[in-house]
Amino acid sequence: MSDRKPVLRVFPNREALARGAADKIRERATLKLETADRFSLVLAGGSTPTRLYDVLGDTPYRAQIDWTRIHFFWGDERPVPPDHADSNYRIARETLLSKVTVPEGNVHRIRGELEDPQDAASRYEMEIRHYFQTEQLPGFDLVILGMGSDGHTASLFPGSDALQERQRWVVAPWVEKQRSHRITLTCPVFNQAACIMFLVQGTEKAVALREVLTAEGPSPYYPAGLIRPEGELVWYVDRDAASALEDRAGT
Ligand code: 6PG
Repeated sequence: MSDRKPVLRVFPNREALARGAADKIRERATLKLETADRFSLVLAGGSTPTRLYDVLGDTPYRAQIDWTRIHFFWGDERPVPPDHADSNYRIARETLLSKVTVPEGNVHRIRGELEDPQDAASRYEMEIRHYFQTEQLPGFDLVILGMGSDGHTASLFPGSDALQERQRWVVAPWVEKQRSHRITLTCPVFNQAACIMFLVQGTEKAVALREVLTAEGPSPYYPAGLIRPEGELVWYVDRDAASALEDRAGT
């Protein structure tokens, strides 16, 4: 976990936020693919990134990123089939994956349809190990994360045992608030990423955002504050989400 200061960019609205995030992804992918043959992108669930996915699947980004060399992963998933309304994979497929040329082998979804969420977690971890061909922590190239109004991120919720996990890369905690299991990457994996990009919008996130960005140290009360990667950490937020910050530096 790093104590590097995060970069905060405040955008005037949802559209500007989505385009700013798309620019960042294009920038990081283009740079990496100059010297590597693939780029690992971890998608977030929830509603905030859907506009970003739409933008990436449209002109000009659709033609500006070599999607055949992008490998898609997910930060978390619900224990549902891939065509279920709640599936994070389904959202990404409909808004982005169906619009760009991605080889099937580049899509590493979490198998939420499996009877046992722990089994889904183990299989996903094996798939990540296979991709990175390492026993060390995997270093994803770019991870997109959202944040809930309670400061949760991915499926790392306040008070969850998953927050303390240091060995496993993927766990399947019971989430009382959701009355369901979730499958999620763990903090050590997130904190090994080359770049973490939080996307946060809406007034309801403002207090949690202030608490996370102003905290002296990581707090289990706001799990998003536990994400402090060795790599780059950027917070892309809209004005509503930034409304509780003193210094609302614009973009
Ligand atoms: C999920 C996400 C979750 C999400 C936050 C914010 O599976 O729902 O991983 O962590 O990012 O709940 O959700 P919104 O973007 O819908 O506010």
